[in-house]
Amino acid sequence: MPTTRCCTSKQTSVAALLVAALAANVLLGPQPAMADWRLCDEGVMTVDGGSANPVPAHAGDEIVFRINGTLDQEVTAGLLEVWVDYLGFHVYSQKGDLCQAVPCPLSKGAQRLTLRQRLPAVTPPGPYLGVFQAREEGGPLLFCVNINFRVALAAAEQGST
Ligand SMILES: *[C@@H]1O[C@H](CO)[C@@H](O)[C@H](O)[C@H]1NC(C)=O
Repeated sequence: MPTTRCCTSKQTSVAALLVAALAANVLLGPQPAMADWRLCDEGVMTVDGGSANPVPAHAGDEIVFRINGTLDQEVTAGLLEVWVDYLGFHVYSQKGDLCQAVPCPLSKGAQRLTLRQRLPAVTPPGPYLGVFQAREEGGPLLFCVNINFRVALAAAEQGST
């Protein structure tokens, strides 16, 4: 199970993921290069960067997501939604208090947001998409950012074939 800071979370079964991983191996050839991040919607925060580390990640790793941007006003409270897609499957989602994930208030000006998520001990390899969407409490969308990340087999697992 991933570590969650608050609120609700759900996961699809590992079996479903393994089936998806098999399907991916059959259907997908070499992966095209993907941009690290992109906006999924226009929010009041101007976003100028997003990243996920380590690259690639391995099952059980803590992934550190970074989102850089600029706010033209202070934010004192908000809601954060995070979900993860794997080969088009919604494999994880979490909804919670923005201020439990990042230190609040977020001041006006440059923002360096860091969000951490631990991968389950069994995580199929392949390309993943993390979606991070924050909304000001009772107010406008702050940001919606997609960040790609990749999970690889551990060296020991790779060596066994
Ligand atoms: C965020 O900004 C810092 C400082 O300017 C920079 O070092 C870092 O690479 C940026 N990260 C992203 C994901 O854009």
